[in-house]
Amino acid sequence: MDHLNIITIDGPAGAGKSTVSKELAKRLGYTYLDTGAMYRAVAWAARHKGVDVRDQKSLSELCNDLKLGFNGDRILVNGQDVSSFIRTPEMDGLSSAVSRVAVVREYLTGMQRELGRGGQLVAEGRDMGTVVFPQAVKFFLTASAGERAKRRKMQMENQGEEVEYEEILAQIEARDLADSTRSIAPLQAAPDCIVIDSSDLTVEDVLEKIVTEM
Ligand code: DC
Repeated sequence: MDHLNIITIDGPAGAGKSTVSKELAKRLGYTYLDTGAMYRAVAWAARHKGVDVRDQKSLSELCNDLKLGFNGDRILVNGQDVSSFIRTPEMDGLSSAVSRVAVVREYLTGMQRELGRGGQLVAEGRDMGTVVFPQAVKFFLTASAGERAKRRKMQMENQGEEVEYEEILAQIEARDLADSTRSIAPLQAAPDCIVIDSSDLTVEDVLEKIVTEM
């Protein structure tokens, strides 16, 4: 393992990154960094301030004024806990849109490196191993789009929401395409990462594989 003990877990939406990363951090006694939540928080702030997510200048001003912070697993925007507002279908789309914008990525990449300075971190996202922490022990967690749609449907049903499988699958495929074809820091596996396909694995299986490879 590298001297700072940073582990990165990248991959597409719904591959199980959050569950695995949180549990791994807990077992190792490391800090868990959810970088998707940071893009979602910027998207929420843009929406809150009426900033068009395609308007780079306004997004740049927004980032300059923005104070993002964590309080345990809660995420704060200028002191306000926005955790319960950032996981909606609208924020899925808006966060993917702001994540294409260079000034937003620069702002968040800088913050993420700062948060990783002390090491002992499990960082989850799309570009943790490729861009933000290239020296880390890198994993790429993936699963088939069908399996990810199935999991998402189950998750939503548990929250009392009824959704069509086909609709979720289409949304997942659209977001995969947007995240992996953008010009800056696209979703891709780092050349020296360890790829894990979780389609037929339990969370415990995935954790075991990670711990074995570390
Ligand atoms: O992991 P998530 O679904 O919460 O991420 C929300 C969006 O943020 C996702 O569509 C892509 C973007 N993202 C990114 O571009 N880079 C990261 N490191 C994390 C998330």
